[in-house]
Amino acid sequence: MLIAVQTERVPGERRVAIVPDGVKVLTKLGATVAVAPGAGAAAGFPDAAYEAAGAEIRDAASEADLLLSVQLTDESVEAAREGATVIGLARPLDTPELAAQLAARKLNAFALELMPRITRAQSMDVLSSQATVAGYRASLLAADRLPRMLPMLVTAAGTISPARFFIIGAGVAGLQAIATAKRLGAVVEAYDTRSAAAEQVESLGARFVEVDLDAGDSEDSGGYAKAQSEEFYAKQRELMAECAARADVVITTALVPGREAPLLITDEAVAGMKPGSIVVDLAAANGGNCAPSKADQEVDVGGVKVLGPTNLPSDLPLNASQMFSKNLVTFLQHLAPEGELVMDLEDEITKGALLVYEGEVTNAMVREKLGLAPAPAPSAPEPPASGEAGGDS
Ligand code: NAI
Repeated sequence: MLIAVQTERVPGERRVAIVPDGVKVLTKLGATVAVAPGAGAAAGFPDAAYEAAGAEIRDAASEADLLLSVQLTDESVEAAREGATVIGLARPLDTPELAAQLAARKLNAFALELMPRITRAQSMDVLSSQATVAGYRASLLAADRLPRMLPMLVTAAGTISPARFFIIGAGVAGLQAIATAKRLGAVVEAYDTRSAAAEQVESLGARFVEVDLDAGDSEDSGGYAKAQSEEFYAKQRELMAECAARADVVITTALVPGREAPLLITDEAVAGMKPGSIVVDLAAANGGNCAPSKADQEVDVGGVKVLGPTNLPSDLPLNASQMFSKNLVTFLQHLAPEGELVMDLEDEITKGALLVYEGEVTNAMVREKLGLAPAPAPSAPEPPASGEAGGDS
C-alpha cells in the first residue's frame, strides 16, 4: 500500500497529518509512505526527519492508495486516482457537498469528525486531541490580550486581584481552557448543560455555575450535547450575561454537532461586560456562541474585544500534528492491520467514520443534508468496486 502524506492546501494551515514517528509505525506495518516535499516544515518536521524515519520525499498523490491530509478539500484530492481512499477532516455536516464530489470522483473517504465516540475509538479521535490544543491556546490568547495579569499578587506596590475567567462549554476544549487559566492563577467559573461536567469542572478547582431549569437528558447516546428548548436557552442566556458581567475573560466552546452553535452571549451581554474584557469564541466557525463574533476576526464592541479564531490547533502545529498523527496512525492500524486496507463495513469504527464508499455517500446524516434517499442496507456485504451504477452528485 502506498500512502501519500499531503501538503495542506487550506491557507494558514500549519499542521501535517503524519509526523516522522508515525511514518516509522506505518512502514513497520508494511506500507510505503511518500511525504510531499515540505509537508511538515511549518509544523517543525523537515523533510530530512521524514527521510530518516523511512519515508520517500515526493508528491505521490496521483499514484497513492491512501491520501492523508489534516483538512480534506477539493484541492487536496484533485490528483487522487479513482478508487483511492482519502482521510482527513472534511466538515461533513457543514460542507456535505464535498462528500458528493468525492462520491462522483469514485474516491473512498473517511471523515475523522465521524469517528464514533466510544471508548475503543478514543485514541483515534482527532476532535478530542485538537480540542485539547484549542482550549489551551484560547486561555493563552485571552491572557495575552488582557490589559491585566492573571494571578493575585501581594506586593509592596499594592495587592493585585486575580483575573476572572468564565468558560462556557466544559467539554474537551473547555476543560483544557479551565486547567490552563487555573495554572496561570485566574479565578475560573464554568458552565455546561451536561450535568456530568460539574464534577470535572470542580476537580480542576473551578466553580460550576448552574441554570435553575431542568435541562432534561442533555446528552445523546453518543455523549454529545442535545439541543434544548427555547425556554431553556432564554433562561440560560440571562445567567450567562450575569456571569459575563463579572468576568475579565469569557471563553465559549459550546457545540451541538450538526447544528448552528447555540447563541449564549448576546449583544446585550457583551454590552454589560467591562471595557478591556476579552471574549474568545471557539464556536465561531459554526455560527458562534457570542453574537458579535466573526470567524477569524477581532471585533471591538465598546472596548470589549471579541475574538473568533477558527483554527487554534494550527497555532501550535508541532504538538497538534503529533497528536493528530498519533490518532490517525492508530486508526490506520485498525483499518490496515497487515499494511493493506480492509474495508470491514460491519466494524463500528470503520463504518462510523466512513463518509463515501464506492461512489455512494454512506453517512446517513450527510445523505439527509444532501437530500439523498437513505443508503440501501448499510451493513449488507458490499458489491465489488466496478460497475456501480450512478453516483451521489
Ligand atoms: P463538543 O465539542 O461537541 O461540545 C463542547 C461542549 O459544549 C460540550 O461539553 C457540550 O455539552 C457543551 N454544550 C453544548 N451546548 C451547550 C449549551 N447550550 N450551553 C453550555 N454548554 C453547551 O464536545 P466535546 O468537548 O468533544 O466532548 C463532550 C464530552 O464527550 C466530554 O465529556 C468528553 O469526555 C466526551 N468524549 C468522549 C469520547 C470517547 O469516548 N471516544 C471522545 C470525545 C469526547
